[in-house]
Amino acid sequence: MTTLETYITENENRFLEDWKGWLRIPSISTLPEHAGDIRSAAEYAADQLQRMDFEQVHLIETQNHPLVYGEWLKAPGKPTVLVYGHYDVQPVDPVELWDSPPFEPTVRGDNLYCRGACDDKGQTMLVFKALESLMAVNGTLPVNVRVLIEGEEEAGGESIDHYVRAYPASLKCNAAFICDTGMPSKEIPALVNGLRGIIYTEVEVRGARGDLHSGSYGGVAPNPLHTLAIIITGLKDADGHIHIPGLYDKVREASEQEKAFWHDDPLHLNEALLEEMGVSQLSGEAEYPPLERIWGRPTLEVHGISGGFVGEGAKTVIPGVAKAKISLRLPADLKSDEIFVLFEKRVKELAPAGVEVTVRKVHGGEAVMVPIDTPPMQAAASALKEVFGKEPVFIREGGSIPIAALFHEILGVPVVMMGFGLPDDNLHAPNEKYSLSQFYKGIRTVARFFEHIGE
Ligand code: BES
Ligand code: MN
Ligand code: MN
Repeated sequence: MTTLETYITENENRFLEDWKGWLRIPSISTLPEHAGDIRSAAEYAADQLQRMDFEQVHLIETQNHPLVYGEWLKAPGKPTVLVYGHYDVQPVDPVELWDSPPFEPTVRGDNLYCRGACDDKGQTMLVFKALESLMAVNGTLPVNVRVLIEGEEEAGGESIDHYVRAYPASLKCNAAFICDTGMPSKEIPALVNGLRGIIYTEVEVRGARGDLHSGSYGGVAPNPLHTLAIIITGLKDADGHIHIPGLYDKVREASEQEKAFWHDDPLHLNEALLEEMGVSQLSGEAEYPPLERIWGRPTLEVHGISGGFVGEGAKTVIPGVAKAKISLRLPADLKSDEIFVLFEKRVKELAPAGVEVTVRKVHGGEAVMVPIDTPPMQAAASALKEVFGKEPVFIREGGSIPIAALFHEILGVPVVMMGFGLPDDNLHAPNEKYSLSQFYKGIRTVARFFEHIGE
């Protein structure tokens, strides 16, 4: 009789090939020219489910990119786990900074480099392979499983949001499992009990009808770029405090346990942050511990500013229009819709007279906090301990996975966020990678997790 361990060991190379095949499809959700690739990547996922005898495998068409659904519900009396992942990836630019082509999966050392290697094709594929292994070895699964994979996470996830709200009964389950987060290092297994929400906005400032000669009009013309600078510096000061009235009102008090972890930093994550970023000093709200700043505080960032002239040489122009992309990360209890209203009001208030300012919400998603003492969470903790040899730590992440809050709220189930990404995986950046050893350990851990839930 083959054991789970033998099956996984014997099939490691094929698992890698299946993963690589998926990675070669450039499923960038934010670029319309990749719509065909998005569909191929969805079909690839559906094919994986079909091969392990899942039923009702199909693409769910949406306003935008399709969802992939499959189910295996032949374990009467056992809990049902809803598995989530996303098959879409971020754009690859600046492409010249990649050491190997972004969509040619390349192994160097213990790492596989490719866009999506980690986020989230690698992490979703390892869940598929855990399920495949259990099925192959036992001819059955220890729990009932529904799989729902989206292709729009990196673009705000609107379609899955609509679907979950419209058809909660079709996703009936006892727990949701999301493999789209990380752990602090290969030696420190972790479970995530909180994520921040987000609002992503575009601020546009219009001044004169068109670009103007800065000699002829400098002194009387409004300058939209300068206006943006005033708005941006008015929104956040040099000490990291955000000046949006009402923003901090509802920030939730953390548990004593979390506060102690943030303050004492027993895993020395603060030093790791300096190393990861390649900076000599942390910025932000000095009166809060760094971990609290990333995990428990609202933050505001400017992602890019456009307008005017940035070419070679000089051009004396006062731009007619300028734009900035600005987002806020929101810890538990700060609702994205409410905060957007406060943000818009403040931006308009900061703008000097004589310009027209429009604020557009590109997308938004809610924060989530989940209790750590639920049976599915304990099942995950046991699995991590078995495979990594250590009790996992409970951490939050500063990033956002909007569907996590929705599963929690609409389906009313515990949400387990267990992922195997590492801080140096270069998510969203050039040279994204995933550790091969994390991939194979992830498969073993997730398989044990399903077994524990079924016990
Ligand atoms: N997997 C990430 C979220 C994440 C990042 C979790 C880092 C843990 C650590 C996810 O794919 C992501 O990038 N989300 C976006 C959400 C947005 C586009 C709505 C994010 O956080 O920017
Ligand atoms: Mn992700
Ligand atoms: Mn991402």
